[in-house]
Amino acid sequence: MSKISSDIKAAAEALRRGELVVFPTETVYGLGADATSDAAVSKIYAAKGRPATNPLIIHVADAKQAEALIEMPEAARRLAAAFWPGPLTIVAPARQSAPISAIARAGLPTLAVRVPSHPVAQELLRAFGGPVAAPSANISGRLSPTEAEHVDESPLAEHVALILDGAECEVGLESTIVGFDETGAATLLRPGGIAAEEIEKVLGAPLLRPQEASREAGANEAEKRPTAPGQLRSHYAPRAKLRLNAAHPEPGEMFLAFGPDAPHDVPGLNLSPSGDLAEAAANLYAYLHILDETGVDTIAVAPIPNEGLGEAINDRLRRAAAPRPDEGGEG
Ligand code: TXA
Ligand code: MG
Repeated sequence: MSKISSDIKAAAEALRRGELVVFPTETVYGLGADATSDAAVSKIYAAKGRPATNPLIIHVADAKQAEALIEMPEAARRLAAAFWPGPLTIVAPARQSAPISAIARAGLPTLAVRVPSHPVAQELLRAFGGPVAAPSANISGRLSPTEAEHVDESPLAEHVALILDGAECEVGLESTIVGFDETGAATLLRPGGIAAEEIEKVLGAPLLRPQEASREAGANEAEKRPTAPGQLRSHYAPRAKLRLNAAHPEPGEMFLAFGPDAPHDVPGLNLSPSGDLAEAAANLYAYLHILDETGVDTIAVAPIPNEGLGEAINDRLRRAAAPRPDEGGEG
């Protein structure tokens, strides 16, 4: 039976009872639980098969609620003012008083916080009234859902009270994660729905990349710097294998094309016939889902320009193409 619903009040009540609720955000669908409850948050890890070492993003309704959870340096406040509500996650030191489950934090002294802009997410957060921990609503390592049906058809559905419908996610890629240390230096922990260039414009300085941050800090200092511990090499993966930077498909492959110069008369889909990276980002997971469902062994993917949102698209494609843990790759 379908669990898709539009009953926000019922969803807020389910969260209060410690149950799991799937809700739409502008990036991808989230698998939400009461972030203050160890018992509720544990259900997220069990349902996804998620490693306990991978902390969760905490969702709140506005920047004021975020400020109650983390100590935001001035540069973080400027990002919040520019991009919240929206697809930005800020990682910063947790306040002593933040009532967030230690399980959701994976024991870290920092917290990842975000204010989603999707109206259904906003209504749910206001109806619930507290922080909601939510990873993407997929089995760990698989494609993130950008439509309610993706979740309804997945084994995750049996673990949730209901799936709030919010149509297709407009951004289609997870939030950009920016981490701040005590000095206020900003590191790009995960490229995502806001291009790094846009964030750098507001910061007035280049974002550090995790490798550079460790190099600058030296080997010992590096451990103190924020990292996104859940960024496994194999992630966001369809069942089919991916072959990247392909000019055209080989016989038997499906083609995920990009741009106006893509070969015609080949089986597959074009992420954006006009070559628009925002459109390509919005279509990426949905099109991978569709091509995967054809049962094909390999999806060939056209090269995507590595600028703007292309950085996040290429990050997800590389992880989706990486050797899977069950195929002798890394865990
Ligand atoms: O767009 C999004 O961010 C979606 C929607 C549902 O909001 N959520 C999402 O969550 O992508 P998830 O769990 O798939 O990815 C969360 C990422 C992981 O890479 C995790 O390691 C990182 O955030 N993270 C969480 N807390 C952190 C912390 N304290 N420091 C560094 N990274 C953290
Ligand atoms: Mg995820």
